[in-house]
Parts: sequence; structure tokens; C-alpha cells
Amino acid sequence: MKSVYVTRNLPGPALEALAEKCKVTLHNKPAPPSKSELLKNAAGKDAILCMLSDRIDREVIDAAGPALKIISSYSTGFEHIDVAEATKRGIYVTYTADILAEATADLTFALILACARNIVQGDRMVRQGKWQVGWTPDLLLGQQVHGATLGIIGLGRIGSAVARRAKGFRMKVLYYSRNKKEQELAEYVGLDDLLARSDFVSIHASMNGGSRHLIDREKLCRMRSTAFLINTARGAIVNERDLVIALKKGEIAGAGLDVFEKEPLPPSSPLTRMKNVVLLPHIGSASRQTRHRMAEVAVNCVLDALAGRRPDPYFLVNPQVR
Ligand code: GLV
Repeated sequence: MKSVYVTRNLPGPALEALAEKCKVTLHNKPAPPSKSELLKNAAGKDAILCMLSDRIDREVIDAAGPALKIISSYSTGFEHIDVAEATKRGIYVTYTADILAEATADLTFALILACARNIVQGDRMVRQGKWQVGWTPDLLLGQQVHGATLGIIGLGRIGSAVARRAKGFRMKVLYYSRNKKEQELAEYVGLDDLLARSDFVSIHASMNGGSRHLIDREKLCRMRSTAFLINTARGAIVNERDLVIALKKGEIAGAGLDVFEKEPLPPSSPLTRMKNVVLLPHIGSASRQTRHRMAEVAVNCVLDALAGRRPDPYFLVNPQVR
């Protein structure tokens, strides 16, 4: 029987299907495995089914040894995997592609609306008994989302899903990405222009060398003082220290963040004490339907590879592996 190391329990029935066909070693704990646990449990496995929080580097690939056929990631990002090393050794790397695009776009809009309309402050006020005079003409006045300008950084699958939602709000949609695309969802502009014109700037770029700290002090200063920054992509695309300064100085109106440079966000982070931010624990794709489907995809890729079949090319990160 083939052996698979699964680095976290997954929602839905997919893992049971995997366990019927393979010997599964499951890291069944809430926190990710430590490096030494990863190295120990990867040893001799035919497959690793990992999360975005597991660094699958050359050391882990070495520890797994020559039996390793596939690294299947339960995520759309794959910057945590040494894809070049896996490819060199003929190991498939798979991901869940755009399965989570709609769920993440939903959450992006939840953050846009929460920031613009003081949803979190309002909830706290009611719970804490601070809503004392009933309906009030100027209570928690926010920004109008309908008709506002949305600037999307990275018009991939998630960015496009956000742009489609924005159309329903009659928003003006601008986008910036490395490559200009033939499409009718959004108007292509330069990054500085996007930052200067948008009421909401939403990040949907992938994490790579070029996008690290793409949004720094200089870029934040180009934003309007009434604008909000939304990030459901990767924390390191924004220089968090610079963001804290911009928020403190009122250089931007606020931020809605689902991702952070260090996750979990340390409780000592100044962000946790700011009123003009909405903070979420990296739950962009966390709808039941999407997470079940992601588990199904990740498991199917493993089962294909271990049965000697090529995983569905749609989910294959390194098609060079034959
Ligand atoms: C989520 O951030 C993912 O990459 O799946």
C-alpha cells in the first residue's frame, strides 16, 4: 500500500477516501507540524499532502527520499514549495488552482463593506451596551461603496472575481498587473495612477520575488487619505511596518486584512490596537463548499499520481514532469 503524509486534518469526506486506498500518516493537531516533525514524517512517503503553512524545501524533499511522487498542496499559493527542486527530481507539484477564487472574492467584498460601513465597530457598540440613544442621524457614518472606485492589483482569477462583484455595485474598476489583459472587466492603469485614483485598493497579486513589499511607504503615500487598503492575498506583499505608520498618521482611512507578514499575527502587533482596521485570520477560502472541494482536488491529485496517472494538468504546477 502506498503511503501519504497529510500535514493537517481536512474538512469534508476526501481524507476518508484517501485512507481507504493508502496508508495515511495524519498530523492531526491544530498547529502545523514543526520542521523536525515534517522531516520525520515525510521520510519514505510516496506522497505529501501539505498546507500553505508547511515549508516543503529541499531538506524535506531529501528526507522523503526517492519514493516521493507528488507534493499536493491544499492551497492556491505554492511559494512554500521548492518547485524547482521537485521538478528536477521528477516529483509532481499540484495545487488547488482557482477552486477558491469565488470564496476569496466573497471575503474580499466582506472586508470592503466592513471597512467602509463600520460593521465591526457597530457590532461592538451594540454588544457592549454603548448604543444608547437609538437611531441617530450621524451615527457611524461610513463611505459609500456603490459607485466608488476600486483598484485591483493583480487581475488573475481572484482579482477578476472581485471585479465582477464590483460591477454589481456599479463601481469604477481599475487594475494594475504585470501584463495587460484583453478583457472588459476593468481599465488598465499604472500602479501609481491606481493608488491615486482608488477609494478601495484590493491586492490579488501572487507572492513572488517581485511582489514582496510592493506596497511600501512610498506607495501608501500615493493613496488617498480617504481610501482603504484590502489584502486577501499574501501579507508580505505589503510592508506591514509602513502600513502601521500610514494608518497611525491617517495617511489612509483604514485597512481590511486577512493575511499578515507573520501568521498568526502576534497579539503584540500595533494593528490589533487600531480602530481603523478589520483583521481576519486568513480565511479567504474558508467556505465549507470551497474547503471540501479543495480537499477533494488535493486528494484526487495524490490518488492519480500514486496510481501511475498524470494528475489533471489544470492542477499541475510543473507540467514539465512527465
Ligand atoms: C490561500 O491563501 C491559499 O493559497 O490557498
